[in-house]
Amino acid sequence: MAIVLLFFTLLSLTNALPPNECPKCGTMEVPYPLSTSQTCGNPNYKLICNNGILQFPSADNLVYKILSINPTTMTLIIEPSHINQNNCQSSDLGSNGFRIDETSPFNISKRNTVMLFNCSNNILLSPLNCSSTSPCRQFEDQAYGCENTLCCSYLKDSSMTSHRIRIRAGGCSAYTSVVDLKPKESVDAWNFGIELQWMPPN
Ligand SMILES: *[C@@H]1O[C@H](CO)[C@@H](O)[C@H](O)[C@H]1NC(C)=O
Ligand SMILES: *[C@@H]1O[C@H](CO)[C@@H](O)[C@H](O)[C@H]1NC(C)=O
Ligand SMILES: *[C@@H]1O[C@H](CO)[C@@H](O)[C@H](O)[C@H]1NC(C)=O
Repeated sequence: MAIVLLFFTLLSLTNALPPNECPKCGTMEVPYPLSTSQTCGNPNYKLICNNGILQFPSADNLVYKILSINPTTMTLIIEPSHINQNNCQSSDLGSNGFRIDETSPFNISKRNTVMLFNCSNNILLSPLNCSSTSPCRQFEDQAYGCENTLCCSYLKDSSMTSHRIRIRAGGCSAYTSVVDLKPKESVDAWNFGIELQWMPPN
């Protein structure tokens, strides 16, 4: 009897999960090929489940909280690092911002508008939008310790590296990112995050 019960329990467990899909992390599904351990998913798509919080590990071994996952579009959105309100510095400034390994199946999607804050004047030579109408001004006005600094924004499109968002001491010391920014949308409606996409496994 016990063996029959065990058999059916195992059967229902395997039925509940598609082959090799990882169990939920907290309330969040972890669709294949994403992987939270050696025994599930595909190890090239490594994420971290830390006490029920799903996290994305960067090339610098920093972790970023995963806010949502869309298996259909093969995208996930991570939380940008926090900006210290006392000095307008992102918490990952020590690693020069966010970076994905070049060999990783993940990259930064083209739907991110990246905003850089507290930039030095030589940024003005770059093709970024640092004008008084740049969307980053709207964010600056909300006070995050970055009021009245030189700020710039850019769409992370195909002309940009898709593996990093770079900041540095003496350059721009903080950043944030908004997914699918609509013109004239107020800051309250912005979808803060960095959208990553992944290649399907072969
Ligand atoms: C900067 O962005 C604003 C808002 O999207 C736009 O109206 C303006 O033309 C842009 N300026 C430059 C120099 O790209
Ligand atoms: C801006 O950046 C400089 C140099 O990286 C830093 O010393 C300063 O604390 C930052 N914050 C503000 C608000 O200027
Ligand atoms: C990022 O990854 C997607 C999905 O694999 C791919 O289609 C796209 O070309 C990549 N973008 C860059 C700039 O490498």
